[in-house]
Amino acid sequence: MRNAKLDAWVEEAAALCKPDRIHWCDGSTAEHDEMIRLMVHAGTAVPLDDAKRPGSVLVRSHPADVARVEDRTFICSARKEDAGPTNNWAEPAEMKATLRGLFDGAMAGRTMYVIPYSMGPVGSPIANIGVEITDSPYVVANMHLMTRVGTRVLEVLGPDGEFVRGLHSVGMPLGPNEPDVPWPHNIEHKYITHFPETREIMSFGSGYGGNALLGKKCHALRIASVQARDEGWLAEHMLILKLTNPEGKRYYITGAFPSACGKTNLAMLEPTLPGWRVETVGEDIAWMKLGADGRLRAINPEAGFFGVAPGTSMGSNPNAMRTLNADAIYTNCAITPEGDVWWEGMTGEAPEGMTDWLRRPHNGSARKAAHPNARFTVAARQCPVIADEWEDPEGVPIDAILFGGRRSSTIPLVTEAFDWAHGTFLGATAGSETTAAAVGAVGQLRRDPMAMLPFCGYNMGDYWAHWLSFEGRTDAAKLPKVFFVNWFRKGADGKFLWPGFGDNSRVLKWVTERIEGTAAAVDSPIGRLPAPDALDLSGLALPGSAMGELLAVDVDGWLDEVGLIRDHFARFGDKLPAAMADAVDQLEARLRAAKAGAA
Ligand code: GTP
Ligand code: SPV
Ligand code: MN
Repeated sequence: MRNAKLDAWVEEAAALCKPDRIHWCDGSTAEHDEMIRLMVHAGTAVPLDDAKRPGSVLVRSHPADVARVEDRTFICSARKEDAGPTNNWAEPAEMKATLRGLFDGAMAGRTMYVIPYSMGPVGSPIANIGVEITDSPYVVANMHLMTRVGTRVLEVLGPDGEFVRGLHSVGMPLGPNEPDVPWPHNIEHKYITHFPETREIMSFGSGYGGNALLGKKCHALRIASVQARDEGWLAEHMLILKLTNPEGKRYYITGAFPSACGKTNLAMLEPTLPGWRVETVGEDIAWMKLGADGRLRAINPEAGFFGVAPGTSMGSNPNAMRTLNADAIYTNCAITPEGDVWWEGMTGEAPEGMTDWLRRPHNGSARKAAHPNARFTVAARQCPVIADEWEDPEGVPIDAILFGGRRSSTIPLVTEAFDWAHGTFLGATAGSETTAAAVGAVGQLRRDPMAMLPFCGYNMGDYWAHWLSFEGRTDAAKLPKVFFVNWFRKGADGKFLWPGFGDNSRVLKWVTERIEGTAAAVDSPIGRLPAPDALDLSGLALPGSAMGELLAVDVDGWLDEVGLIRDHFARFGDKLPAAMADAVDQLEARLRAAKAGAA
């Protein structure tokens, strides 16, 4: 059964890109093996030691193609104001004309792969079908792991079903006698473009991560956020975890932290508190819809993890390490003489005789052996703590939403919002220090509302209004409680004050006790903080002053923060919801009253 629109689009793409051949992906193991074989043959990938890392390869990209390129990412909505001040905008017809020029003949000498994929379990009512056309076997192999690919998707699509169109090329055609390079990409032109009204994606020039695996950020966040706005649901950059307390009571919690700020780690943590258990539903993206019972229910639209490698170890994230026991693709890690991968933080000391991600000998070098945005790709079902219900088409009912960021000062370990509107305000004003997940300076404080700054496909002011609207869509008491967390506050010595990782279970415990109404909190100008002794710190040896610093409300620091929030909000003009403007006024008034009271 053919889909006429799909056939026509593939024909049109082939006429434009002029590939040597077309391959329709069936998602089979044989096809996956063939992609790996092609990559090894081309020098893109090296097989890893079969005893240590069975079925796994290391891929090393070009040093100019290592992360998302936010300054080359565009939302091409018909009207500029619908992209808003936080997105690059281009007029759709003009952008398409530019791209047609670039895609013309771009796949010469290469195979064009057609990848039908489902975000969410195939055939589930909440799943969404996309088709990615690409000339990269690396993309095909990664999409096999990150999404559900194959013939069954075409069956569900049927003869006239709708799908998100994603056209991707590495942008490096080959002449008749031109040899390929290990990592083809286009050094001059990179464009990651989205046409939200027509549900199209066109990505040119990069083969890396979210630039190229179009099901992930391009489809499941930028396009889906627009669909969610239109249809009354939420597409979010969130982990989803299942938490079971010692009495066996379950909670489902989502968390929106910016790229490389701890989602994967929290989603599969091993609690240091005895009797508590965390299982994973998702670790990067959540689609949340109101169920018939009026509760917000979340599904993970992905099928795999594309996780940050550096910092991942048996100490910090043992469940990620166990997930990686076989059939993984590693990108931009170092390789040991035994054919194992290595990255900073995996073990205390760098093994002897390694080759770094740039294929240089690493011995004695002060350089990093792995790129800071080195990643692993692996199927989610291999995770030893994947929750039984991770593919439940109904989704899991969300009890709490965490917002967060990487903040070395000012922001306490945990704060509870007063109500939904205040929670939306906490999310909307989230700041975070930039990381290696995107090209650009690292460690710079920027506003990253709901961790969606690089991923919201429409005007962020309208997005906040959409969040606020949920109070009117269901009984407010059924909405999740909202919290703000910060694992990254530093002391005067420049070291993290909070041990993080498994010890974050202590904060999760307080969150559940706030849901039950059993743990104490104190009101502060910025929200509700754990009362002294309300956080379970049993068995944790923290320096005497650490908890005081972690929960301190630095009133002067916060008054500076108010200034930053006002500048941030000013960018949105009349798109800023009145409730957000009121919330910042109220925050400032509470801070001034606290300051006057203390004086
Ligand atoms: P993306 O995949 O880019 O969206 O990142 P993510 O939000 O899933 O972040 P991830 O869990 O991969 O963590 C990124 C980095 O932060 C890793 O190097 C982790 O080791 C580190 N990290 C995660 N959780 C904690 C924590 O609780 N404390 C500290 N200090 N570091 C953490
Ligand atoms: C992120 O940057 O938030 C990621 C990695 O999860 S990527 O898929 O490249 O967007
Ligand atoms: Mn992410």
